[in-house]
Amino acid sequence: MIDIHSHIIHGVDDGPSNITESLRMIKEAERLGIGTVVASPHYQESVFSLDRVDENFQELLYKAQDYDVTINLWYEVFANPNSPALMRNRKKLSLNRTGTILFEFPFNAQPQKCVELVWKFRMQKITPIIAHVERNRAFINKIEYFVAFIKAGCLIQVDAASIVGVYGPKIKEFSKKLVQMKFVDMVASNAHSAMDYANWYSEAYKNVSNWVGKEDAGLLFHTNAKNILEGINNDDPVHRNILRWERMV
Ligand SMILES: [Fe+2]
Repeated sequence: MIDIHSHIIHGVDDGPSNITESLRMIKEAERLGIGTVVASPHYQESVFSLDRVDENFQELLYKAQDYDVTINLWYEVFANPNSPALMRNRKKLSLNRTGTILFEFPFNAQPQKCVELVWKFRMQKITPIIAHVERNRAFINKIEYFVAFIKAGCLIQVDAASIVGVYGPKIKEFSKKLVQMKFVDMVASNAHSAMDYANWYSEAYKNVSNWVGKEDAGLLFHTNAKNILEGINNDDPVHRNILRWERMV
């Protein structure tokens, strides 16, 4: 399996505070059958240092050599439509420079202003992946807000914790609905500790398999992420997602 969203780098955000816990997370990921973890520390302008992330990531790579887990570096970028630094740093912030960027939106605010931001990145041939859409209250209450991002060509990631009900029945139900309607491209751990992996990941896989079958679960936990890591065709997601949207209405 491939986990494209994990706070596995120590000392850079609200993930592990030391390298020992980072290594525990990698050990747990390996035990669960995750062959590739994409480290995605939070990026919010003026809050986190990119240099520190690079340093700690290199230390982690060196100390994790004995584990059979490949670790890539990405970021979970706070989607601030007013930040010129986002566009300026776009190459650094995109996954292995593959042409995708992982955005997180504010949970409670209406994210319509981010639609324009998403289109700006699409114009630069960078496909935004929206992290944990199922936890956004505006999307839950009004699916049209969510559909605007699908129409803009975004890919969609859902958290394992949401799928097992950690954030309550409403978010679990919304996750199920999105998965069953084939709006979800990837399920990721969004793990901040080894316990997050241990408590939620396998159960989330079982739930998704029950909801849509093992073949689709394989897409969400492995194949789609593999395609992204190999570099996606940035013209493809738009057409694919619009077709999905047409199926829905
Ligand atoms: Fe995250």
